[in-house]
Amino acid sequence: MQPLNLPCSSSSNSKLLVPFFGLVFVLLLSSASHVSSCTEQERSSLIDFRDGLSPEGNGGLNVSWINNTDCCQWEGIFCSTDGVVTDVLLGSKGLKGSIPPSLSNLTGLLRLNLSRNSLEGSLPAELLFSNSIIVLDVSFNYLSGPLQERWQSSNPGLPLQVLNISSNLFKGQFPSTTLEVMKNLVALNASNNSFTGSMPSSICNYAPSIAMLDLCLNKFSGTISPEFANCSMLKVLKAGHNNLTGALPHELFNATSLEQLSFPNNDLQGILDASNLVRLNNLIILDVGSNGLRGNIPDSIGQLSRLEELHLDNNLMSGELPSALGNCTGLRYITIRNNSFKGDLSRVNFSRLDLRTADFSMNNFTDALQKLKSCSTLTSLLIGTNFNGETIPQDEAIDGFGNLQVLTIDACPLVGKIPLWLSKLTKLEMLDLSNNQLTGLIPSWINNLQLLFYLDISNNSLTGDIPIALMNMSMIQYQKNAVRLDPKFLELPVYWTPTRQYRMLNAFPVLLNIGHNRFTGSIPPEIGQLKMLDVLNFSSNNLSGEIPWQISNLTSLQVLDLSNNQLTATVGTPSYVAMCSTLHVTQQEHIQPP
Ligand SMILES: *[C@@H]1O[C@H](CO)[C@@H](O)[C@H](O)[C@H]1NC(C)=O
Ligand SMILES: *[C@@H]1O[C@H](CO)[C@@H](O)[C@H](O)[C@H]1NC(C)=O
Ligand SMILES: *[C@@H]1O[C@H](CO)[C@@H](O)[C@H](O)[C@H]1NC(C)=O
Ligand SMILES: *[C@@H]1O[C@H](CO)[C@@H](O)[C@H](O)[C@H]1NC(C)=O
Ligand SMILES: *[C@@H]1O[C@H](CO)[C@@H](O)[C@H](O)[C@H]1NC(C)=O
Ligand SMILES: *[C@@H]1O[C@H](CO)[C@@H](O)[C@H](O)[C@H]1NC(C)=O
Ligand SMILES: *[C@@H]1O[C@H](CO)[C@@H](O)[C@H](O)[C@H]1NC(C)=O
Ligand SMILES: *[C@@H]1O[C@H](CO)[C@@H](O)[C@H](O)[C@H]1NC(C)=O
Ligand SMILES: *[C@@H]1O[C@H](CO)[C@@H](O)[C@H](O)[C@H]1NC(C)=O
Ligand SMILES: *[C@@H]1O[C@H](CO)[C@@H](O)[C@H](O)[C@H]1NC(C)=O
Ligand SMILES: *[C@@H]1O[C@H](CO)[C@@H](O)[C@H](O)[C@H]1NC(C)=O
Ligand SMILES: *[C@@H]1O[C@H](CO)[C@@H](O)[C@H](O)[C@H]1NC(C)=O
Repeated sequence: MQPLNLPCSSSSNSKLLVPFFGLVFVLLLSSASHVSSCTEQERSSLIDFRDGLSPEGNGGLNVSWINNTDCCQWEGIFCSTDGVVTDVLLGSKGLKGSIPPSLSNLTGLLRLNLSRNSLEGSLPAELLFSNSIIVLDVSFNYLSGPLQERWQSSNPGLPLQVLNISSNLFKGQFPSTTLEVMKNLVALNASNNSFTGSMPSSICNYAPSIAMLDLCLNKFSGTISPEFANCSMLKVLKAGHNNLTGALPHELFNATSLEQLSFPNNDLQGILDASNLVRLNNLIILDVGSNGLRGNIPDSIGQLSRLEELHLDNNLMSGELPSALGNCTGLRYITIRNNSFKGDLSRVNFSRLDLRTADFSMNNFTDALQKLKSCSTLTSLLIGTNFNGETIPQDEAIDGFGNLQVLTIDACPLVGKIPLWLSKLTKLEMLDLSNNQLTGLIPSWINNLQLLFYLDISNNSLTGDIPIALMNMSMIQYQKNAVRLDPKFLELPVYWTPTRQYRMLNAFPVLLNIGHNRFTGSIPPEIGQLKMLDVLNFSSNNLSGEIPWQISNLTSLQVLDLSNNQLTATVGTPSYVAMCSTLHVTQQEHIQPP
């Protein structure tokens, strides 16, 4: 029996491992059509597995796996042309129960996929140290206990290439005797468990071809081992959301194949060393957000020509941004949120970047908008909590933000009026100018922003009436936001304030918040046109008159806050609570029906 020749160890230029398995799958289908029957031994191993499952979690295998028939024809089972079971692919079958060691009696088994079930108990050592399995995927189950130590008798060079034990309940240290025998490992995903102790960095000593190591969402602690110097083929190293301490060691930067280096949410210290950083010139993603890093961004970052994502958010970094950042022309996502960077950003020529999403908020930048306006590729700009006390640029020459979909300049505080140049941002879907000291009126051009579905101008000193234009916002009138936002913006975590965190478009409410200003006059009855609204906040203004009954047309409302005004309810005021059970009405006394 010849195992299929996997191209996993070739140095193809594929970024991730996924394409390899696509190929395997194709080979598999083509061999599945002309099979001869499996052996009695194989059949009984499978029946043993089936009968070990709990009756309510057998995935229908009690019906589809019939004893005395050829097991090569059974659901999820694939055989080679000479009738040897090579694949047991039972992902997402609702299986419950434990995994019996008997599956290891399938001596020709190459791929075992039991992912996304509800299997419990341990992962049998017989499978982990199998002499035939090359792909073992038991991710997304409830497997528990420590990972088995290698036995004396196990083969010193196992064929295993892909091991996915992620999203289970494994705990304890990662035994080095287990790794010792996994000489052919290419991908190891152990993320989202409760492993403790130091990271299994010795894997690179044993498995020279290892290309992917995902250890994030565990309880690994201690420093990052110098052993990573031996990871010469490693492309993806993820160890975020652990308890790692110390600096990024020099030796880590000897792993020069790295395309993704990701250590967010740890307790790392030290700086990003200029001469070290430049050695990782294959980097596509660098994520060291939410650590304790200090110092500035070194100039040498400009030599990372493949860089697409840079996450340095929530650290203690400082200084000005290096002009060399403008050389990273592939950069599409940058977040340096919540550091102490300063300066006017004018050193960086952002116009050459593919910078789609930029989060510069919570730093100490000055005059940034003037410079960034040249950045026409930008789709999301989050830049609040900067520009302390500056006047928001009124300059009509600011016209380079034409592709912006998301703009947040909250909590600076900025002074001045809502500027006219905003009216040219016709692709804008979300605008947050809250918590500033803006004055003047809500401009009558506001409804020119035809895609806007999220407008927060709360906590300013804006005055005047609520303009009818605000009641003519087309997105809020007619359409649920039609997923126009850059998908990258949606995938990546975007934090705006400590109390508000959104990761997905679906999570963004259709919102109109003009609370905590100095608006006067009454609420226009045309409010009833804004049918898509999820959140309406007019609280803490000087609004007067009757609450228009037309508010009852807003059947999507989840939050309505009209409190701290001089509004009155009348006979026509509807019974909101009865109208919509999800309605959360703050300060109800103002809008109770009489
Ligand atoms: C698996 O093999 C072992 C010995 O090789 C044997 O004792 C056991 O009965 C087998 N189990 C099944 C279910 O075939
Ligand atoms: C198979 O299992 C299901 C429940 O898991 C059960 O309802 C059904 O009766 C079983 N069928 C046979 C033939 O045992
Ligand atoms: C399957 O069938 C064989 C004979 O064909 C029999 O010996 C065996 O006991 C059966 N196993 C089960 C679990 O029914
Ligand atoms: C295992 O099956 C799941 C589908 O249930 C699939 O998403 C996953 O990619 C498979 N694993 C491997 C290693 O091919
Ligand atoms: C488990 O990891 C392997 C290797 O990265 C991957 O191919 C497979 O799709 C993963 N399984 C699931 C269910 O995501
Ligand atoms: C590892 O598995 C988790 C799911 O358990 C998945 O979210 C993650 O993307 C995988 N890592 C890699 C590098 O594929
Ligand atoms: C972690 O595992 C849990 C339980 O399987 C799962 O619900 C969750 O989606 C996983 N998280 C990630 C990021 O994969
Ligand atoms: C992280 O490590 C520190 C110091 O070793 C310890 O006090 C803390 O409990 C650990 N946190 C977690 C979540 O393991
Ligand atoms: C890391 O790389 C440098 C420069 O290539 C080399 O001098 C050094 O010996 C390497 N360190 C290790 C631990 O491999
Ligand atoms: C950035 O690019 C410019 C011109 O292409 C070059 O002169 C400069 O040295 C580069 N800077 C860095 C740090 O790579
Ligand atoms: C911001 O800059 C001002 C003036 O240089 C300084 O007084 C202030 O401490 C800085 N704030 C932060 C958070 O770095
Ligand atoms: C309220 O909704 C109804 C039905 O959709 C519509 O006929 C009516 O014009 C709306 N009223 C206002 C004030 O928008």
